[in-house]
Amino acid sequence: MAQGDTELEARLEEQDEFEPSEEFVAQANVSDAGIYDEFEENWPECWERAADLLDWDEEYDEVLDDSNPPFYEWFTGGELNACHNCVDRHVENGDKNRVAIKWEGEHGETRTYTYQDLYREVNEFAAALRDLGVEEDDVVTLYMPMVPELPIAMLACARIGAPHNVVFAGFSAEALATRMNAADSRFLVTCDGYYRRGDPLDHLDKTNEGLDSVDHGVDATVVVDRLGDDGFGHDLKGNQHDWDELLDEQRGERVDPVERDAEDMLFLMYTSGTTGQPKGVKHTTGGYLSYATWTSHAVLDIEKEDTYWCSADIGWITGHSYIVYGPLALGSTTVMYEGTPDFPNRDRMWDIVEKYAVDVFYTAPTAIRAFMKWGSKYPESRDLSSLRLLGTVGEPINPRAWKWYYEHIGNENCPVVDTWWQTETGGMMITTLPGVKNMKPGSAGPPLPGIDAQIVDTNGDEVEPGRAGYLTVNKPWPGMLRTLYKNDERYISEYWEEYSDTDSDDPDDWVYFPEDGAKVDDDGYITVLGRVDDVINVSGHRLGTMEIESAIVGVEGVAEAAVVGGNHEVKGEAVYAYVITEDGYEEGEDLRARIIEGVEDAIGPIARPEQVVFTPELPKTRSGKIMRRLLEDVANGAELGNTSTLRNPDIVEQIEAKVHAQSD
Ligand code: WT7
Repeated sequence: MAQGDTELEARLEEQDEFEPSEEFVAQANVSDAGIYDEFEENWPECWERAADLLDWDEEYDEVLDDSNPPFYEWFTGGELNACHNCVDRHVENGDKNRVAIKWEGEHGETRTYTYQDLYREVNEFAAALRDLGVEEDDVVTLYMPMVPELPIAMLACARIGAPHNVVFAGFSAEALATRMNAADSRFLVTCDGYYRRGDPLDHLDKTNEGLDSVDHGVDATVVVDRLGDDGFGHDLKGNQHDWDELLDEQRGERVDPVERDAEDMLFLMYTSGTTGQPKGVKHTTGGYLSYATWTSHAVLDIEKEDTYWCSADIGWITGHSYIVYGPLALGSTTVMYEGTPDFPNRDRMWDIVEKYAVDVFYTAPTAIRAFMKWGSKYPESRDLSSLRLLGTVGEPINPRAWKWYYEHIGNENCPVVDTWWQTETGGMMITTLPGVKNMKPGSAGPPLPGIDAQIVDTNGDEVEPGRAGYLTVNKPWPGMLRTLYKNDERYISEYWEEYSDTDSDDPDDWVYFPEDGAKVDDDGYITVLGRVDDVINVSGHRLGTMEIESAIVGVEGVAEAAVVGGNHEVKGEAVYAYVITEDGYEEGEDLRARIIEGVEDAIGPIARPEQVVFTPELPKTRSGKIMRRLLEDVANGAELGNTSTLRNPDIVEQIEAKVHAQSD
């Protein structure tokens, strides 16, 4: 490292507050600090400002209907179409030749869709879906990797009022079937395969295996041909259709966008919770789209002239809100990349930023920690001067990684927004407005204007600044989930019961609980500490420990299992599995391999245990409850917490010795 670098590092290390540059502020979409008061004084009407970013076919009567909490309704009486807002209106407004999607395949091939191209293909696919029998309100499952056909299919669904249900392509066949069954989904769009680190991956085989387990049968499947000659030569079955052939049949077809009620479902997204069964988060057309668009404008500072890149996968909510809906509603250019950040080289991300002159870049702390580990020579070898703003999402970012990002990617010129939100919130909730607020590395920032968040103790009383407590949200917001699919009861018990008076119909008595721990400082900046439920966050991917446990106990020879998250330098958290074998089965490599395979089959490779520790017992309280906290301490090599309430205190030390032996 050069002398100058060392000095810089030392200076950055000391600094705990950063100001956005005058140059940034001067051009920012939001730069008036009065916006916080304005929203507070004029709540909930302030949210008209978000709705005004959209075209409405029918004006709404009321901004918020809070007469039946927690079943809030936003922009009631309004009608709109999400596809019209993301595509048609730009074509009509003279932007038909502006680039909507820049796609880069792993092998370096590129595809460019102007808004006109997108309009044509979305219309044709919407016509195809209709011909296949998809009607308004039918749930269409999209099990696709990062190919342009995924946003095209999403928008085509939105156009005809069929909610989409995107399932991350890295999920297993079983996970696909679980989600299709839960959503009563009879239609599927998938693809033959995709590339990972240079090699083609067979996706259709996995899809077909999943389809065999869909209880209610499937009316039609559409298959995108991604691999061409590298394909695996599967024959399409009777109700399986080739994407290109369908589009050829529909050449030049147009389908009028369906006028959807503001509260009509735009999509479902399954996410992990405390139980083994994933939760079907329901998002709506008016509230969600307004919120994703508003936050893209106010936080990501996106303008239609921008080239914007979010490196997430569309299979997660980040990709829905901030690759597809927000950026396209604003008429900007959104970049999509198919592959991994280190293929063919570790400069791939910076190569893409340079090539497309990316203005705004949004990624996850886990990626930043990997870039940091690889070293600054990779970003330094590229011209990153087009960047204006950087963002992170998905997990807490440690100040060191924040500063590395600020220095080596942003050249100390770009504000960094650390955005806290969830699948359920639809969009960003806690972060700095980059044109208004200073940044504090490690702290997400204050709640956004109009968002009322508090840190409370177990009784729901506000805790003092500096003390750890539980994050709560005290007022509804347009992007919030409306319920869990066909399960209003679970919606209440998962998110509201903890801190609300559930007998009351006064909205002031209802408090949303995101299941995160947090603390606040004297300036109202919130630092999110992590989940307080049995959900772990591996590389920004949310996994339920119960889901992984049930996969492990399904493996022959396993009697019992407990899964916890252990700290991991790059991934944030890693999966640690503690396993008791069944009588007559031997612990060892064979069983370990079968356990890993079992988890990959049930969920996918992202949930693969980092460590499988065989143990004769699990630490349990006298009432038989597994003490996960102790298992976490063991995984983290931390000092053990109180073991005096255990029925079997000796076991913890035995487990600890085993973990040490394995990691040496
Ligand atoms: C959980 C939500 C939001 C899209 C990606 C993840 C954690 C998210 C941050 C942040 C600290 C964060 C929380 C949250 N999280 N962003 N900036 N700082 N923690 O969505 O899969 O629904 O997970 O991710 O624990 O509850 P998700």
